[in-house]
Amino acid sequence: MLDLLIHNASLPDGRTAMSVAVQGGQIVAVAAGLQAPAHQTLDAQGQLLSPPFVDPHFHMDATLSYGLPRVNQSGTLLEGIALWGELKPLLTADALMERALAYCDWAVAKGLLAIRTHVDVCDDRLLAVDALLEVKRQVEPYIDMQLVAFPQDGVLRAPNALANLHRALDKGVDVVGGIPHFERTSEQGAASVKLLCEIAAQRGLRVDMHCDESDDPHSRHVETLAFETQRLGLQGLVTGSHLTSMHSMDNYYVSKLIALMAESQLHAVANPLINITLQGRHDSYPKRRGMTRVPELLAAGINVAFGHDCVMDPWYSLGSGDMLEVAHMGLHVAQMTSQAAMRQCFDAVTVNAARVMGLDNYGIAPGCHADLVLLQARDPVEALRLRATRLKVFRRGQLLAESPAACSTLHLPGRPGQTDWMAN
Ligand code: FE2
Repeated sequence: MLDLLIHNASLPDGRTAMSVAVQGGQIVAVAAGLQAPAHQTLDAQGQLLSPPFVDPHFHMDATLSYGLPRVNQSGTLLEGIALWGELKPLLTADALMERALAYCDWAVAKGLLAIRTHVDVCDDRLLAVDALLEVKRQVEPYIDMQLVAFPQDGVLRAPNALANLHRALDKGVDVVGGIPHFERTSEQGAASVKLLCEIAAQRGLRVDMHCDESDDPHSRHVETLAFETQRLGLQGLVTGSHLTSMHSMDNYYVSKLIALMAESQLHAVANPLINITLQGRHDSYPKRRGMTRVPELLAAGINVAFGHDCVMDPWYSLGSGDMLEVAHMGLHVAQMTSQAAMRQCFDAVTVNAARVMGLDNYGIAPGCHADLVLLQARDPVEALRLRATRLKVFRRGQLLAESPAACSTLHLPGRPGQTDWMAN
């Protein structure tokens, strides 16, 4: 007897009228028109059944702190970092955990069941590290969370940052982070990349670095990250996040750089909502968009994912944990408007993001975890267009969240009682 049998689902790869059979928290069969006894059956009515959304780049220690202690007036990355510096001494573990857990509730409702979050390690108390390790433990039954040891103020620039990073990793933080463009000089930035990659190699950990998050066309830290990845044999384990300077770089230089990144099997994470908000702030007109070269990276075979980065914090005043909103913005900023490119944007917040995190058994195939989201849309493009309602969210075959279908009742002259969910 199956635990759950879902009928008549559309899948992200384009298959329709599919059945997905779940037993013991795992998908045991995916086929058209499966018939088998099950404790629970669900008619998907042709709607899209997707693996869960994955956010490969977030800052959960800062989330939902918007307005504390004040609002970012200039809207720049640097004022955001300064503002976070003002907030840090005021943080308490209880308040931080309360905000993080509230965000995790939002995430589950939006079908977001895996999150890689950076955690600032520059506070000697490591208060945020301890708090997020506890949050990770508490949400483990429903969210796969990875923590990145992130030296926000620069591992070489900030006193004690290196020692604190080691302490955080000793406590169980999963991934080594960095911020080379914020070190004092470009040489120090390159030295930080080398040092942090060596720490990851020695500890057998992954790397995820904020890298070249600026409009500076001469920022070169992703080149160093690709080189160190190869030198240390970390291929496939290293992610360059943001990479916004690539937007402004010389085309000839980028043509060499992208090949180096591909050779090193670097993952790239763009953060469309934040990149379009923070970058180009020093421009008059035209204003640069600041997002990295997503279609070109994908064309070179590089795994590109989209992250949310911020929700209601010193850097960004909006957001709701909706990865379809993230992909929707990415699609527009990158002008990825063909049918194939829009599907790539859906992949950027699902399968590609899962690859960044190295998640096992992710997907809709026999042997995968029965982690599933039923969307009120018939295919990935419609899901993006509507930022579709998550009708049901399953984890290991168990229902975690459900939302009523969006539907508007129209009161039009001469056409009484019309309803239309597409109008939402
Ligand atoms: Fe970030």
